[in-house]
Amino acid sequence: MGSVTHTSDTALVLGIESSCDETAVALVRGDGTIVAQSIASQEAEHAPYGGVVPEIAARAHAERLAPMIAKVMGDANVTLDDCDAIAATAGPGLIGGVMVGLVSAKALAMASGKPLLAINHLEGHALSPRLADGSLAFPYLLLLVSGGHCQILAVEGVGHYRRLATTIDDALGEAFDKTAKILGLGYPGGSAVERLALQGDPKAVPLPRPLKGSPEPHFSFAGLKSAVLRAVESGLHAPQDIAASFQQAAVDCLIDRLSLALTRAGPFPALVVAGGVAANATVRGALEAFAARHAMRFTAPPIALCTDNAAMIAWAGCERLAAEGWRRGTEFAGDPLDFLARPRWPLDPDAEIARGAGVKA
Ligand code: KG4
Ligand code: ZN
Repeated sequence: MGSVTHTSDTALVLGIESSCDETAVALVRGDGTIVAQSIASQEAEHAPYGGVVPEIAARAHAERLAPMIAKVMGDANVTLDDCDAIAATAGPGLIGGVMVGLVSAKALAMASGKPLLAINHLEGHALSPRLADGSLAFPYLLLLVSGGHCQILAVEGVGHYRRLATTIDDALGEAFDKTAKILGLGYPGGSAVERLALQGDPKAVPLPRPLKGSPEPHFSFAGLKSAVLRAVESGLHAPQDIAASFQQAAVDCLIDRLSLALTRAGPFPALVVAGGVAANATVRGALEAFAARHAMRFTAPPIALCTDNAAMIAWAGCERLAAEGWRRGTEFAGDPLDFLARPRWPLDPDAEIARGAGVKA
């Protein structure tokens, strides 16, 4: 697999993202230009409940999406006629929200006669580093760490993903959010935990590193979260020390699991991180040092591309067009208009089911 070739560099793709609590619309060109985009967060709506409420999320997507599409098209001064495809997240995610975005994309595709591209949200995260950095070639080792997912993937090409590890219980972002809740820092709490940890001692509180050293390749964070709860309840530790020690334990787990993945499936020329937790500077720093130790290039997309966004969905559409040999003016069917929204949609269909109840996608 060679260097990045943007064979669809003239393509213009409209992307829609609505799988969790961000409503997002973007127009992206095949050469990696984000022509226009808009993101509306629903944090305020969900904060009183301490987590995302699916029904509230779906309603908010339904209210916001159409005006946002109109605004993005207006900002870019383009019409549907100028678009080469309509891409939307078709899963995995909260099904009500996914349906809102996918049905909107189907309606636009039907009205304009442009192809529909039903995009796997995880594929959006997996390919977003190539939108940020056009020189990033396949293959690369990807750590995907968000509120809903915690996976290590070998990204071998568009549509070619090998899952090397997943979580058997909580995702890392979820563990950050639960730690924030336990420490009374509000929702979503990842960045609040990071800020508090800056003032604490990462060695002060003895916390477990679940599955560290295990031949089982996966992640587990439920035990760490329970240990955080016990540390708070003990009254023996300052909150900033708990936050710093939690973050250090989490980072130690990430590095240990990445080492195992690399031993088993490596070498890889590059390590890439994506997902909301990639915003964490301690996590990024540890990954950068790990990559340097293993003579790998390290890439992390800018934060705005790490968290949920529609540019990564439109970009995954561009990548698909390129991979499938699309040329403007030639017939390109895209996905069928009866493509169903999928609450679960593993990127690697051959991956074995990991033990545990809370396996995500
Ligand atoms: O990718 P994302 O926006 O949405 C999902 O697909 O889940 O990730 C959101 C997650 C949340 O759990 C949030 O707490 C976490 O990313 N997060 C962080 C930081 N910023 C966001 N976790 C740790 N440190 C941060 N600075
Ligand atoms: Zn995501």
